Amino acid sequence: GSTLQDAAAESGRYFGTAIAAGRMNDQQYMNIANREFDMITTENAMKMDATEPSQNQFNYSSGDQIVNWALSNGKQVRGHALAWHSQQPGWMQNMEGQQLRQAMLNHVTEVATHYRGKIHSWDVVNEAFADGSSGARRNSNLQRTGNDWIEAAFRAARAADPNAQLCYNDYNTDNWNHAKTQGVYNMVADFKARGVPIDCVGFQAHFNSGNPVPSNYHETLQNFADLGVDVQITELDIEGSGTSQAEQYRGVVQACMAVARCQGITVWGVRDTDSWRASGTPLLFDGNGNKKAAYNYVLDQLNSG
Ligand code: G3I
Repeated sequence: GSTLQDAAAESGRYFGTAIAAGRMNDQQYMNIANREFDMITTENAMKMDATEPSQNQFNYSSGDQIVNWALSNGKQVRGHALAWHSQQPGWMQNMEGQQLRQAMLNHVTEVATHYRGKIHSWDVVNEAFADGSSGARRNSNLQRTGNDWIEAAFRAARAADPNAQLCYNDYNTDNWNHAKTQGVYNMVADFKARGVPIDCVGFQAHFNSGNPVPSNYHETLQNFADLGVDVQITELDIEGSGTSQAEQYRGVVQACMAVARCQGITVWGVRDTDSWRASGTPLLFDGNGNKKAAYNYVLDQLNSG
């Protein structure tokens, strides 16, 4: 294949990007997105603060804009994210207990119902585990509603959009030896054992010099897949430049392609200048829309599989 999406499709995989609603009038951005990618994640437009700015008043305008563009161009969509401790609307941030639990479940139900039948995979719950060596849940207002809040969110999502894949999504879960990876793994194993509806695990894959692509990445993805879930690389970006950045990108593609249940890779933005990172050059296209070495290594690796 001569584009990322075509090359990935040869092994039955997708290649995606995050799209920001505010950049949809940038022709260069949209041309690259349309040419290279067949899976679209709304970078911010489906988050809780965007979709429910006032309680029970839902706003889907930006999300719909991205979804309609994607579907009308033959692409699929990842929904991001139904429940998260961050990017909560102001009215939710100070809620606690049963009131918050009900508001969260109502949010999951409403948003998943609005997009029913249009979403390939939902990030049902995002970033619910703590960093560091505890392997425990993150302390958040949602966690304080009870340890079963995550499975309650998954059940509500399944009821609202029964044909979408339901994912748990997190960062710093790439290295098999990290406590956070083990914590998520144990939760997924428990969900599978008890019949909680979970179909996939998303690995955000935000890499930098302090958190490089681990040499055991393939092992991590395979171990999760062996629990009976699909795995997806959902927000890939890698700090750096030139050949060393390109080699790390190649390693990520290699790891995914070596795991049958790794369904695809999404990069977190189109050009370096579109990245959430304030500085740096973590993506596959430079600020002028030119393909970087990292792009060429990714394309070659997709084609060699
Ligand atoms: O659009 C408003 C603008 O009107 C306002 O003037 C400005 C002032 O703060 O803010 C703009 O919104 C910003 C938005 O990005 C769009 O640029 C928000 O402040 C800013 O918080 C938001 O950052 C996003 C971040 O998540 C927080 O939600 C990034 O774009 C987005 O790339 C990033 O994505 C996250 C994933 O959702 C979860 N995993 C980590 C990943 C990277 O942080």
